[in-house]
Amino acid sequence: MREVRIGIIGSGGIAAAHAKAYKEMDDVKVVAVADVIPGKATQFVENLELSDARAFNNYQELLELELDGVSICTPNVAHHRTSIDSSLAGKHVLVEKPMAVTLEQAIEMTEVAKKAEKILSIGFQPRYDPNMQAVKEIVQSGKLGNVYYVETGGGRRRGMPRGTFINKELAGAGAMADIGCYSLDLVLHALGNPKPLTVSAYTSNHFGTNPVYHPEADQFEVEDFAVAIVRLEGGKVLNFKTSWAMHMDTLGATMFLGTSAGLKLTPAGSGPWSGVWDGGIGSISLFHDVMGHHVDSAIPVKTHQLNIFAEKVRDFVVSVKGGKPAPIPGEQILINQAIVDGALRSAAQGQEVRIDLPEWVK
Ligand SMILES: NC(=O)c1ccc[n+]([C@@H]2O[C@H](COP(=O)([O-])OP(=O)(O)OC[C@H]3O[C@@H](n4cnc5c(N)ncnc54)[C@H](O)[C@@H]3O)[C@@H](O)[C@H]2O)c1
Repeated sequence: MREVRIGIIGSGGIAAAHAKAYKEMDDVKVVAVADVIPGKATQFVENLELSDARAFNNYQELLELELDGVSICTPNVAHHRTSIDSSLAGKHVLVEKPMAVTLEQAIEMTEVAKKAEKILSIGFQPRYDPNMQAVKEIVQSGKLGNVYYVETGGGRRRGMPRGTFINKELAGAGAMADIGCYSLDLVLHALGNPKPLTVSAYTSNHFGTNPVYHPEADQFEVEDFAVAIVRLEGGKVLNFKTSWAMHMDTLGATMFLGTSAGLKLTPAGSGPWSGVWDGGIGSISLFHDVMGHHVDSAIPVKTHQLNIFAEKVRDFVVSVKGGKPAPIPGEQILINQAIVDGALRSAAQGQEVRIDLPEWVK
């Protein structure tokens, strides 16, 4: 393939990270940027010195161009429409996390991309952390035996975003959509994406709606805390929790309890914004107890120089060029979306709810 021609839809904060990653690649050109705010894409093109890029106030015009792929960097609510229109226009798609706002949207995005035979990849960059890969290898190796219980979740002591992130219609959910989806991806990926069957969840927003803690408290519509018990296929249970603000330093380690051994992980990073799984893995310990002989083994955390964000963007380009499948397929991330969707329904109804996935979800 000649050079890969890319369009960027949405020109806010994370779009800049996409643009910078593409600029590092000799075989890629960002040829268009679109944003609904008039003039914003033009400013973006100037600021990031994207000399080959045209700017649009409407992504439909961008999709009329001859492009190989698009990066979708809009607020969550617009992931669905822009992704579907991009697939229908024959473009490969890299869409930012979370995949969508509802499960229904995520299903439709996947179906349309499949039918169009185009890549739909979801932007979970921690997949490129070698430690996340090591965790998956340990869980899949059978060393833990039958994994029957998994606990995960990230918590910030103080770390509530503003603007589109706290608007229910634009973001879909709060802490779960913003940071919880990373913890879910960490464990679901390691387990091989078991299907969720039911969810019982509780959400609250004591901090976001309190002007002492949030400057936009009167506009705060989403959850700043969530906890969910998820029954997974294969007799497993997942305890998922996430928080944007709390009077605590951590929501605890991520753990896998198996019939032969247990695995404990802590997130990297420190300070009030730490404790979430977007910044890598801090420690990995294996707990095994053979007939009463207790052994805890620290598994060395792999240090790496990788810019995992750039790796994610690069891998998308590699798939586009090589005609390969999506690196982080929408079909897999559907399960992540299904849990968040189920947790929101369960919390609203005050009871456990079923999760129904289409038969084609593997
Ligand atoms: N992977 C990561 O590390 C990471 C980090 C931050 C944000 N994100 C995700 O990236 C997305 C964007 O976040 P952000 O912080 O850049 O938000 P942002 O608000 O800074 O930027 C979003 C931009 O999209 C534009 N927009 C909205 N609707 C549009 C449409 N239909 N067409 C074109 N442009 C449109 C907005 O005007 C805005 O300029 C969110 O889904 C967020 O969860 C990912």
